[in-house]
Amino acid sequence: MIPVSTPCLNGKELEYVTDCIKSSWISSIGKYVTQFEENFAGFCGTAHAISASNGTTALHLALVSLDIGEADEVIVPDLTFVASANAVLYCGARPVFVDADEKTWNIDPSKIEENITERTKAIIVVHLYGHPCDMDPIMKIARQYNLKVIEDAAEAHGAEYNLKRVGSFGDAGVFSFYGNKIITTGEGGMITTNNTELMNKMRMLRDHAMSKTKRYWHDVLGYNYRLTNIQAAIGVAQMEQIDGFIEAKRRNAALYNSLLNKIDGLTLPPEANGCRNVYWMYSVLIEDDFGMSRDDVMARLQEKGIDTRPFFYPLHQLPIYRRDAVYPVSTMLSRKGINLPSGTTLTETDIRKVCEAFMSIKK
Ligand SMILES: Cc1ncc(COP(=O)(O)O)c(C=O)c1O
Repeated sequence: MIPVSTPCLNGKELEYVTDCIKSSWISSIGKYVTQFEENFAGFCGTAHAISASNGTTALHLALVSLDIGEADEVIVPDLTFVASANAVLYCGARPVFVDADEKTWNIDPSKIEENITERTKAIIVVHLYGHPCDMDPIMKIARQYNLKVIEDAAEAHGAEYNLKRVGSFGDAGVFSFYGNKIITTGEGGMITTNNTELMNKMRMLRDHAMSKTKRYWHDVLGYNYRLTNIQAAIGVAQMEQIDGFIEAKRRNAALYNSLLNKIDGLTLPPEANGCRNVYWMYSVLIEDDFGMSRDDVMARLQEKGIDTRPFFYPLHQLPIYRRDAVYPVSTMLSRKGINLPSGTTLTETDIRKVCEAFMSIKK
């Protein structure tokens, strides 16, 4: 079976984890946590990076620290992983969904303004499957309406928009290091920001909101959202390889593109002008003229030893987020979209096998 993704742990992960164990620094204080945060901020081009226990807690921490709370509304793309909206609900706020843009599969900037009300406090943009959002119009709207911007970059480490890395545009950028992400720490997350005050607040809230000057004194409700030194040790080793991982993803995408563009009825993944897609997932749309439904394609590929994933369901269809409004583009993308094997350890032979399987089921 060719898997959708497998983590690549061939660097110094074991050496650094062993160092943690031998030195007994296994909890959330230790040199690897600091080093991982510094390396990650440098990679994104931001002043600060704060690690967290996973991408979801990182999102929650960012929202709470930006004072998102009850009665607030937060704009969220309709097509994303559920965690992007769940973090809004954790704050007691209401996610307001915006349809996707057919050209990027990300939030459609031209549909944001019509969803802004006097309660809107923030926009969460998601750089879905590794493609950056169209940040110029988004930041313009945010400035105009005085909204905070949180970039959910859980799937897009190193993606660039006009030569600037994602996670460096908004008030905060959020990353995930789950096992299938571009780099992994098993579970883990990171928040990037240029705002020193926000960074200090996030550090405080991440650690039970303990007073810096008075131990066991807590002025506000805090959380334990810390990453461990062992996880960070894996992260430091992964950061030493991240450029190679991204190159591998882009090389794989180029090979997929060159082989799959010969097949009618497939739409290949976008890379908009000025954007550097990191292809966290190499994804295609099975168009109606392919001659077979997306789910049938997935089943046929499975029979041929190829693992795939469907696109996320549009959030407005999920029971907890049911909305009456229509979201034609995200609904269409969700129905047609499929993630193909996309791991950094894929070989050229694997990719050729996937594409040959596609050609054979088309016949
Ligand atoms: C877009 C998006 N946001 C948030 C998350 C949550 O990250 P985590 O699984 O690390 O909590 C994920 C992935 O899992 C994701 O894909």
